[in-house]
Amino acid sequence: MRKKIIVGNWKMNKFSSEAKTFVKEIEEIAQVAKKNNIIVGVAPTFLSLEAANSNAVTPIVAAQNCHFEDSGAFTGEVSVPMLVDLGVKYCLVGHSERRQYFAETNETCNKKLLKLCANKIVPIYCVGETLAEYEAGTTKEVIKEQLVKGLANVAAEDVATMVIAYEPVWSIGTGKNASSEIAQDICGFVRETVAALYGNEVAEQVLVQYGGSVKPNNIKEYLNQKDIDGALVGGASLQVASYIEMIKNLL
Ligand code: PGA
Repeated sequence: MRKKIIVGNWKMNKFSSEAKTFVKEIEEIAQVAKKNNIIVGVAPTFLSLEAANSNAVTPIVAAQNCHFEDSGAFTGEVSVPMLVDLGVKYCLVGHSERRQYFAETNETCNKKLLKLCANKIVPIYCVGETLAEYEAGTTKEVIKEQLVKGLANVAAEDVATMVIAYEPVWSIGTGKNASSEIAQDICGFVRETVAALYGNEVAEQVLVQYGGSVKPNNIKEYLNQKDIDGALVGGASLQVASYIEMIKNLL
């Protein structure tokens, strides 16, 4: 049985002190969730990683981005060894906001995935189509390309332990969530594509999340789908009460 994983992507929100308090407030429920095979995590800004990670085990703490070089003249960037140094265990790669506003490409995602895997940080690799691509009926082509190019040269054992988040761009922060049928269809397609690239055993192990307007009242429906192992949650993860409610709804 695959584990479940729910991660709150805080984006550019929360001061370090708020991150610390939030993590304390969800620690207990995160521990209960862990006993039920559900990983609970938060992804704060770089500045709050240390504060959020100070009580270490649960919830898990993810970075929102990284650079693919170890060090050097890359003003404003943060390297993977720096994340390792802080004890960070997970890192988002290729979130649509990074693709859209910061010129992230499948090729740069690939370099980041390789670097993270080499440093034993679990990537949460985000894929998803834009509204125009969705309307043009090219969703699966787009996702396939993101997977093929993003995962190029990543070892099978690293793919087996990574998280892939399907987030239709048109549903992020819009309240227009994909129906659970669409989400299942594409998350199933993600698993099929991984199977075609790496074989069934790897595909059966990789965790696939859905993300995009996930809320306390719809999370369960998504996670009841056979190929959806978790959720990447933006807006609804910012308030302790709503995040706790979401976790409780999965128990
Ligand atoms: P949302 O964001 O839940 O606010 O739609 C999801 C995400 O960007 O990961």
